[in-house]
Amino acid sequence: MLGSREFEGKVALVTGATSGIGKATALAFAQSGALVVVAGRRLIEGQQTVHEISERGGEAMFIKTDVSKATEVEDLVDKTVEIYGRLDFACNSAGVGIMGALTECSETDWDYVINVNLKGIWLSLKHEIPVMMRQKNGVIVNIASVAGIVGGPGFSVYGATKAGIISLTKTAAMECAKSGIRINVISPGPIKTEMLDTVPSTQLDLMLSAHPTGKIGKPEEVAQAALWLCSNTAASITGHNLIINGGYAAQ
Ligand SMILES: NC(=O)c1ccc[n+]([C@@H]2O[C@H](COP(=O)([O-])OP(=O)(O)OC[C@H]3O[C@@H](n4cnc5c(N)ncnc54)[C@H](OP(=O)(O)O)[C@@H]3O)[C@@H](O)[C@H]2O)c1
Repeated sequence: MLGSREFEGKVALVTGATSGIGKATALAFAQSGALVVVAGRRLIEGQQTVHEISERGGEAMFIKTDVSKATEVEDLVDKTVEIYGRLDFACNSAGVGIMGALTECSETDWDYVINVNLKGIWLSLKHEIPVMMRQKNGVIVNIASVAGIVGGPGFSVYGATKAGIISLTKTAAMECAKSGIRINVISPGPIKTEMLDTVPSTQLDLMLSAHPTGKIGKPEEVAQAALWLCSNTAASITGHNLIINGGYAAQ
């Protein structure tokens, strides 16, 4: 269990913190004493995350960011350092899911999901790593998916981006291993968020029936795992893919 103020005075950046796993992670970082930068495209939801952190006695700011845009990600990291002076942790959770047979996937949908999920993680790493290199420390946690490990009908472009994120994480971890920076990835199964609400109930029932525990996870469980990976307790863990999916990938 993490100490309650384990990250006092540290700076944590969370993309996709306007809802779901990213929001739960932003709240958890704040609860642990970190100053939190909340990133996402939706202004009202971003302000709401900041409000909830403030209400609980934490400190956060929202920076409106589209992670698929290079200049916006560069600005996000620059502003974080300008305002808070450093970057200790980053959780790159921003992502979109478009499901459907690969033969039915349009070029527009393909490009959109690749740009947000895969290019977005690459851009985040590209701008977060140099700051951590200068500090000679930092921890990054990317959010992939069980769809990046196990094939399934309808995963097509989504699964491809998540497999790409796992690969990118390993490369980044190797490139940073001697620089005091650890980089890991979490691959969740079904988690109760807005994204899961878009999955048709028949497909969700099918997914759950294939899960040994048969349970839908909570965003807070993923958040706690991300914080643990950032903690000193996980000091020897880098390039690891932490699977949180009720045993689905173990079959
Ligand atoms: N829920 C699940 O079952 C599940 C399972 C495995 C993996 N995941 C992964 O977990 C991550 C978080 O998803 P979630 O379940 O928490 O769903 P969610 O509640 O829909 O959250 C997705 C987040 O990504 C942000 N986002 C989307 N496009 C973005 C863009 N272009 N730029 C910046 N932010 C963007 C959204 O914010 P804005 O709309 O404000 O931009 C939102 O905060 C995703 O990477 C997802 O693939 C989820």
